[in-house]
Amino acid sequence: MPHPPLIAASILAADFAHLGDAIRQAEAGGADWIHIDVMDGHFVPNLTMGPVVVEACRRVTALPLDVHLMVDNAPALIPDFARAGADSITVHVEAVTHLHRCLESIRALGLRAGAALNPSTPAASLDEVLPDLDLVLVMTVDPGYAGQTLIDGALAKVRRIRSRLDDLRLPARLQVDGGINDQTLPRAVREGADTFVAAHAIFGHPQGIRAGLQALRASLQTALA
Ligand code: DX5
Ligand code: ZN
Repeated sequence: MPHPPLIAASILAADFAHLGDAIRQAEAGGADWIHIDVMDGHFVPNLTMGPVVVEACRRVTALPLDVHLMVDNAPALIPDFARAGADSITVHVEAVTHLHRCLESIRALGLRAGAALNPSTPAASLDEVLPDLDLVLVMTVDPGYAGQTLIDGALAKVRRIRSRLDDLRLPARLQVDGGINDQTLPRAVREGADTFVAAHAIFGHPQGIRAGLQALRASLQTALA
């Protein structure tokens, strides 16, 4: 594994009436990144957050803000999310016509650039832009909602992208997102993922946010041992 593993806490399952507290608890509990799921009601059926929420998150945490754009018009929105305080921006290959230009524009703003693949999108669709990426995001559920069950076939794709990155000696992080919990995370580790997004397993944990993070961290340590 080329990078130290990271856990990105997705606020999609947080209590939005107490979002600042939820983020502070995630930071205190050991989250490495805060993952912000932006949905537009077109590319995905759900409608969630915009730059004002990113700006609000920026005020309550020093952790990197990892913005996942599930929107039709990502290129037009990137400057707003950068200004709001994003540290990385990930766009969907299915939604962006000029992906190379879009990734360059993210990097030109000084941010990490990511590209995400839906479960039905082949790994090869990233081949031509792998050197332009800081982050490859493999969706392990169909995007739109927290709390779904991981799709097994998506993990095989993680393995394929891991091999490709290693063969080409490329440094991009390999992130999985959707249905990640203490049972599924070790499987993603074995396929070569190094960055783990979780919403429900953290913010929906019955014993609280800290316990959710501890359970994920413990499963990560076991998988790496
Ligand atoms: C799904 C989002 C995910 C989601 C993960 O469309 O991109 O980041 O919040 O939620 P869990 O971890 O609950 O599957
Ligand atoms: Zn996400």
